[in-house]
Amino acid sequence: MKILITGSKGQLGSELVDFLSKDNKVYGFGHKELDITDKNLVINKVSKIVPDIVIHCAAFVDADGCESNIKDAFDVNTIGSGNVIIASKKTKSIMVYISTDYVFDGKKDSPYIESDIPNSISVYGISKYAGEQIVRHYLEKFFIVRTSWLFRRKGKNFVNTILNLTKDRKELRVVNDQVGSPTYVPDLARAISSLISTKYYGIYHITNCGECSRYEFTKKILEYAGIENVKVTPISTEELNRPASRPKYSVLKNFNLEKRKIYKMRNWELALKDFFKK
Ligand SMILES: NC(=O)c1ccc[n+]([C@@H]2O[C@H](COP(=O)([O-])OP(=O)(O)OC[C@H]3O[C@@H](n4cnc5c(N)ncnc54)[C@H](OP(=O)(O)O)[C@@H]3O)[C@@H](O)[C@H]2O)c1
Repeated sequence: MKILITGSKGQLGSELVDFLSKDNKVYGFGHKELDITDKNLVINKVSKIVPDIVIHCAAFVDADGCESNIKDAFDVNTIGSGNVIIASKKTKSIMVYISTDYVFDGKKDSPYIESDIPNSISVYGISKYAGEQIVRHYLEKFFIVRTSWLFRRKGKNFVNTILNLTKDRKELRVVNDQVGSPTYVPDLARAISSLISTKYYGIYHITNCGECSRYEFTKKILEYAGIENVKVTPISTEELNRPASRPKYSVLKNFNLEKRKIYKMRNWELALKDFFKK
Protein backbone atom coordinates (compact mmCIF):
# COMPACT_ATOMS: atom_id res chain seq x y z
CA MET A 1 0.00 0.00 0.00
CA LYS A 2 1.00 3.63 -0.48
CA ILE A 3 0.75 5.35 2.90
CA LEU A 4 1.19 9.09 3.49
CA ILE A 5 1.95 10.21 7.05
CA THR A 6 1.66 13.81 8.29
CA GLY A 7 3.67 14.92 11.33
CA SER A 8 6.19 12.22 10.47
CA LYS A 9 8.94 13.65 12.69
CA GLY A 10 6.78 13.48 15.82
CA GLN A 11 6.62 10.59 18.29
CA LEU A 12 3.87 8.59 16.62
CA GLY A 13 4.59 9.72 13.06
CA SER A 14 8.22 8.61 13.14
CA GLU A 15 7.34 5.28 14.77
CA LEU A 16 4.74 4.62 12.08
CA VAL A 17 7.16 5.54 9.29
CA ASP A 18 9.67 2.99 10.63
CA PHE A 19 7.15 0.25 11.32
CA LEU A 20 5.00 0.52 8.19
CA SER A 21 7.96 0.94 5.81
CA LYS A 22 8.73 -2.78 6.18
CA ASP A 23 5.70 -3.79 4.09
CA ASN A 24 4.49 -0.61 2.42
CA LYS A 25 5.63 2.37 0.40
CA VAL A 26 5.57 5.11 3.03
CA TYR A 27 5.69 8.86 2.35
CA GLY A 28 6.39 10.68 5.61
CA PHE A 29 6.21 14.47 5.77
CA GLY A 30 7.37 16.47 8.77
CA HIS A 31 6.24 19.99 9.64
CA LYS A 32 8.91 21.60 7.42
CA GLU A 33 8.02 19.55 4.34
CA LEU A 34 4.26 19.73 4.76
CA ASP A 35 2.66 22.45 6.86
CA ILE A 36 -0.93 21.23 7.10
CA THR A 37 -2.23 24.80 7.45
CA ASP A 38 -1.20 25.40 3.80
CA LYS A 39 -4.25 24.07 1.97
CA ASN A 40 -2.83 24.22 -1.57
CA LEU A 41 0.39 22.55 -0.53
CA VAL A 42 -1.51 19.76 1.22
CA ILE A 43 -3.77 19.16 -1.78
CA ASN A 44 -0.81 19.20 -4.21
CA LYS A 45 1.31 16.76 -2.17
CA VAL A 46 -1.52 14.32 -1.55
CA SER A 47 -2.74 14.53 -5.18
CA LYS A 48 0.76 13.78 -6.50
CA ILE A 49 1.08 10.63 -4.41
CA VAL A 50 -2.55 9.40 -4.46
CA PRO A 51 -2.02 7.32 -1.30
CA ASP A 52 -4.22 4.37 -0.38
CA ILE A 53 -4.11 5.58 3.22
CA VAL A 54 -3.38 8.93 4.87
CA ILE A 55 -2.36 8.71 8.54
CA HIS A 56 -2.77 12.16 10.02
CA CYS A 57 -0.46 12.52 13.05
CA ALA A 58 0.43 16.23 12.75
CA ALA A 59 -1.06 18.27 15.57
CA PHE A 60 -0.50 21.08 18.04
CA VAL A 61 -0.35 18.76 21.08
CA ASP A 62 0.78 21.05 23.89
CA ALA A 63 -2.47 21.40 25.86
CA ASP A 64 -1.24 24.41 27.86
CA GLY A 65 0.15 26.03 24.71
CA CYS A 66 -3.24 25.61 23.01
CA GLU A 67 -4.92 27.52 25.87
CA SER A 68 -2.79 30.61 25.21
CA ASN A 69 -2.72 30.22 21.40
CA ILE A 70 -6.33 29.42 20.62
CA LYS A 71 -6.04 30.54 17.00
CA ASP A 72 -3.01 28.31 16.37
CA ALA A 73 -4.73 25.36 18.06
CA PHE A 74 -7.74 25.60 15.73
CA ASP A 75 -5.62 26.53 12.69
CA VAL A 76 -3.60 23.33 13.07
CA ASN A 77 -5.88 20.81 14.79
CA THR A 78 -9.14 21.73 13.09
CA ILE A 79 -8.57 23.76 9.89
CA GLY A 80 -5.26 22.02 9.15
CA SER A 81 -6.91 18.65 9.66
CA GLY A 82 -9.69 19.87 7.38
CA ASN A 83 -7.10 20.46 4.65
CA VAL A 84 -5.78 16.91 5.03
CA ILE A 85 -9.36 15.61 4.99
CA ILE A 86 -10.27 17.54 1.81
CA ALA A 87 -7.11 16.27 0.11
CA SER A 88 -7.86 12.67 1.17
CA LYS A 89 -11.38 12.97 -0.20
CA LYS A 90 -10.06 14.15 -3.57
CA THR A 91 -7.75 11.13 -3.86
CA LYS A 92 -10.30 8.72 -2.31
CA SER A 93 -7.70 7.77 0.30
CA ILE A 94 -8.68 6.09 3.55
CA MET A 95 -8.03 8.48 6.43
CA VAL A 96 -6.63 7.61 9.84
CA TYR A 97 -7.23 10.57 12.15
CA ILE A 98 -5.31 10.40 15.42
CA SER A 99 -7.29 11.83 18.32
CA THR A 100 -7.09 12.01 22.07
CA ASP A 101 -8.59 11.06 25.44
CA TYR A 102 -8.84 14.83 26.05
CA VAL A 103 -12.06 14.89 23.97
CA PHE A 104 -13.74 13.63 27.18
CA ASP A 105 -14.47 15.69 30.30
CA GLY A 106 -13.26 13.00 32.73
CA LYS A 107 -16.43 12.92 34.79
CA LYS A 108 -17.05 9.21 34.18
CA ASP A 109 -15.78 6.69 36.72
CA SER A 110 -15.39 3.73 34.36
CA PRO A 111 -13.42 3.49 31.10
CA TYR A 112 -14.74 5.50 28.15
CA ILE A 113 -15.93 3.51 25.15
CA GLU A 114 -16.21 4.78 21.59
CA SER A 115 -19.95 5.54 21.84
CA ASP A 116 -19.55 7.79 24.90
CA ILE A 117 -20.27 11.42 24.06
CA PRO A 118 -17.19 13.69 24.08
CA ASN A 119 -17.36 16.90 26.06
CA SER A 120 -13.90 18.41 26.14
CA ILE A 121 -12.80 20.87 28.82
CA SER A 122 -9.72 22.25 27.02
CA VAL A 123 -8.95 24.14 23.82
CA TYR A 124 -6.72 21.26 22.72
CA GLY A 125 -9.50 18.70 23.20
CA ILE A 126 -12.14 20.87 21.53
CA SER A 127 -9.91 21.58 18.53
CA LYS A 128 -9.11 17.85 18.13
CA TYR A 129 -12.77 16.86 18.48
CA ALA A 130 -13.73 19.43 15.85
CA GLY A 131 -11.28 17.65 13.53
CA GLU A 132 -13.02 14.35 14.31
CA GLN A 133 -16.34 15.89 13.37
CA ILE A 134 -15.04 17.01 9.97
CA VAL A 135 -13.74 13.49 9.32
CA ARG A 136 -17.11 11.95 10.19
CA HIS A 137 -19.17 14.39 8.15
CA TYR A 138 -16.90 14.53 5.11
CA LEU A 139 -15.50 11.02 4.62
CA GLU A 140 -16.95 7.53 4.31
CA LYS A 141 -13.83 5.44 4.81
CA PHE A 142 -12.00 6.53 7.93
CA PHE A 143 -10.53 5.34 11.19
CA ILE A 144 -10.59 7.76 14.12
CA VAL A 145 -8.04 6.49 16.66
CA ARG A 146 -8.23 8.00 20.14
CA THR A 147 -5.20 7.33 22.28
CA SER A 148 -3.64 8.69 25.48
CA TRP A 149 -0.47 9.45 27.44
CA LEU A 150 2.01 8.49 24.69
CA PHE A 151 5.59 7.54 25.55
CA ARG A 152 8.59 6.22 23.64
CA ARG A 153 12.37 6.43 23.92
CA LYS A 154 12.71 9.45 21.63
CA GLY A 155 10.50 12.49 21.97
CA LYS A 156 8.95 14.86 24.45
CA ASN A 157 6.72 12.81 26.72
CA PHE A 158 5.90 12.27 30.39
CA VAL A 159 8.38 9.41 30.94
CA ASN A 160 11.32 11.32 29.46
CA THR A 161 10.34 14.47 31.37
CA ILE A 162 10.31 12.56 34.68
CA LEU A 163 13.66 10.90 33.90
CA ASN A 164 15.20 14.28 33.03
CA LEU A 165 13.87 15.90 36.22
CA THR A 166 15.49 13.22 38.37
CA LYS A 167 18.91 14.38 37.13
CA ASP A 168 18.84 17.48 39.33
CA ARG A 169 15.95 17.03 41.79
CA LYS A 170 15.60 14.93 44.89
CA GLU A 171 11.84 15.39 45.11
CA LEU A 172 9.16 15.32 42.42
CA ARG A 173 5.64 16.61 43.04
CA VAL A 174 3.20 14.80 40.75
CA VAL A 175 -0.58 14.94 40.45
CA ASN A 176 -2.49 12.04 41.92
CA ASP A 177 -5.95 13.00 40.65
CA GLN A 178 -5.50 12.53 36.91
CA VAL A 179 -6.04 8.91 35.96
CA GLY A 180 -5.41 7.53 32.48
CA SER A 181 -3.77 4.80 30.42
CA PRO A 182 -0.13 5.26 29.44
CA THR A 183 0.44 4.08 25.88
CA TYR A 184 3.73 2.84 24.44
CA VAL A 185 4.07 4.23 20.93
CA PRO A 186 5.55 1.03 19.37
CA ASP A 187 2.49 -0.89 20.65
CA LEU A 188 0.16 1.73 19.20
CA ALA A 189 1.95 1.56 15.83
CA ARG A 190 1.46 -2.23 15.71
CA ALA A 191 -2.23 -1.88 16.55
CA ILE A 192 -2.72 0.81 13.88
CA SER A 193 -0.96 -1.41 11.35
CA SER A 194 -3.42 -4.24 12.12
CA LEU A 195 -6.38 -1.87 12.05
CA ILE A 196 -5.62 -0.46 8.59
CA SER A 197 -5.39 -3.94 7.15
CA THR A 198 -9.14 -4.31 7.87
CA LYS A 199 -12.17 -2.61 6.39
CA TYR A 200 -13.83 -2.13 9.78
CA TYR A 201 -13.95 1.65 9.52
CA GLY A 202 -15.07 3.78 12.47
CA ILE A 203 -13.93 5.08 15.83
CA TYR A 204 -11.38 3.18 17.92
CA HIS A 205 -9.89 3.66 21.34
CA ILE A 206 -6.33 2.31 21.37
CA THR A 207 -4.28 2.52 24.55
CA ASN A 208 -2.27 0.09 26.62
CA CYS A 209 -4.53 -1.74 29.08
CA GLY A 210 -4.80 -0.87 32.75
CA GLU A 211 -4.88 2.54 34.40
CA CYS A 212 -2.92 4.66 36.84
CA SER A 213 -2.62 8.19 38.15
CA ARG A 214 0.30 10.37 37.03
CA TYR A 215 1.72 9.84 40.52
CA GLU A 216 1.49 6.02 40.26
CA PHE A 217 2.97 6.20 36.76
CA THR A 218 5.93 8.21 38.10
CA LYS A 219 6.54 5.71 40.91
CA LYS A 220 6.69 2.88 38.34
CA ILE A 221 9.00 4.86 36.05
CA LEU A 222 11.47 5.38 38.90
CA GLU A 223 11.16 1.75 40.03
CA TYR A 224 11.89 0.36 36.54
CA ALA A 225 14.67 2.90 36.02
CA GLY A 226 16.26 1.78 39.31
CA ILE A 227 16.14 5.33 40.74
CA GLU A 228 15.82 5.09 44.53
CA ASN A 229 17.05 8.43 45.81
CA VAL A 230 14.19 10.59 44.47
CA LYS A 231 11.06 11.12 46.57
CA VAL A 232 7.70 11.38 44.80
CA THR A 233 5.04 13.46 46.53
CA PRO A 234 1.41 13.29 45.42
CA ILE A 235 -0.29 16.65 44.80
CA SER A 236 -3.62 17.76 43.36
CA THR A 237 -4.22 19.20 39.89
CA GLU A 238 -5.40 22.38 41.62
CA GLU A 239 -2.03 22.76 43.35
CA LEU A 240 -0.21 22.40 40.03
CA ASN A 241 -2.37 25.17 38.53
CA ARG A 242 -1.69 24.58 34.81
CA PRO A 243 -3.46 26.69 32.14
CA ALA A 244 -5.35 23.78 30.51
CA SER A 245 -8.04 21.84 32.37
CA ARG A 246 -7.38 18.13 32.14
CA PRO A 247 -9.86 15.26 32.55
CA LYS A 248 -9.60 13.70 36.01
CA TYR A 249 -10.40 10.28 34.58
CA SER A 250 -9.66 9.59 30.92
CA VAL A 251 -9.15 5.84 30.75
CA LEU A 252 -10.16 4.56 27.32
CA LYS A 253 -11.45 1.03 26.79
CA ASN A 254 -10.32 -0.61 23.53
CA PHE A 255 -13.87 -1.81 23.04
CA ASN A 256 -14.16 -1.89 19.23
CA LEU A 257 -10.62 -3.14 18.72
CA GLU A 258 -11.25 -6.13 20.99
CA LYS A 259 -14.84 -6.77 19.91
CA ARG A 260 -13.65 -7.12 16.29
CA LYS A 261 -10.57 -9.10 17.41
CA ILE A 262 -8.24 -6.74 15.52
CA TYR A 263 -5.47 -6.39 18.08
CA LYS A 264 -4.97 -7.02 21.80
CA MET A 265 -3.02 -4.29 23.57
CA ARG A 266 -0.92 -5.40 26.55
CA ASN A 267 -0.80 -3.85 30.01
CA TRP A 268 1.02 -0.49 30.29
CA GLU A 269 3.41 -1.82 32.95
CA LEU A 270 4.71 -4.54 30.60
CA ALA A 271 5.16 -1.92 27.91
CA LEU A 272 7.03 0.36 30.33
CA LYS A 273 9.40 -2.51 31.14
CA ASP A 274 10.16 -2.80 27.41
CA PHE A 275 10.82 0.93 27.24
CA PHE A 276 13.73 0.39 29.66
CA LYS A 277 15.03 -2.74 27.92
CA LYS A 278 15.72 -1.10 24.56
N1 LIG B 1 1.41 12.88 23.02
C1 LIG B 1 0.36 12.36 23.64
O1 LIG B 1 0.42 12.00 24.82
C2 LIG B 1 -0.93 12.18 22.88
C3 LIG B 1 -2.05 11.68 23.57
C4 LIG B 1 -3.24 11.49 22.87
C5 LIG B 1 -3.30 11.77 21.52
N2 LIG B 1 -2.20 12.27 20.87
C6 LIG B 1 -2.33 12.56 19.43
O2 LIG B 1 -1.39 11.75 18.77
C7 LIG B 1 -0.89 12.42 17.61
C8 LIG B 1 0.62 12.36 17.60
O3 LIG B 1 1.11 12.98 18.78
P1 LIG B 1 2.65 12.94 19.14
O4 LIG B 1 2.80 12.64 20.56
O5 LIG B 1 3.39 12.14 18.12
O6 LIG B 1 2.97 14.49 18.96
P2 LIG B 1 4.34 15.17 18.51
O7 LIG B 1 5.50 14.33 18.85
O8 LIG B 1 4.29 16.58 19.00
O9 LIG B 1 4.15 15.18 16.93
C9 LIG B 1 3.29 16.05 16.29
C10 LIG B 1 3.99 16.58 15.08
O10 LIG B 1 3.11 17.49 14.40
C11 LIG B 1 3.92 18.51 13.86
N3 LIG B 1 3.16 19.70 13.54
C12 LIG B 1 2.74 20.68 14.38
N4 LIG B 1 2.13 21.63 13.66
C13 LIG B 1 2.15 21.25 12.36
C14 LIG B 1 1.69 21.81 11.14
N5 LIG B 1 1.08 22.99 11.10
N6 LIG B 1 1.91 21.12 10.00
C15 LIG B 1 2.54 19.94 10.02
N7 LIG B 1 3.03 19.37 11.12
C16 LIG B 1 2.82 20.02 12.28
C17 LIG B 1 4.97 18.76 14.92
O11 LIG B 1 6.09 19.39 14.34
P3 LIG B 1 6.88 20.54 15.18
O12 LIG B 1 7.23 19.92 16.48
O13 LIG B 1 8.04 20.85 14.27
O14 LIG B 1 5.92 21.68 15.29
C18 LIG B 1 5.27 17.36 15.42
O15 LIG B 1 6.37 16.79 14.75
C19 LIG B 1 -1.49 13.83 17.66
O16 LIG B 1 -2.61 13.86 16.80
C20 LIG B 1 -1.95 13.99 19.08
O17 LIG B 1 -3.06 14.86 19.18
C21 LIG B 1 -1.02 12.46 21.53
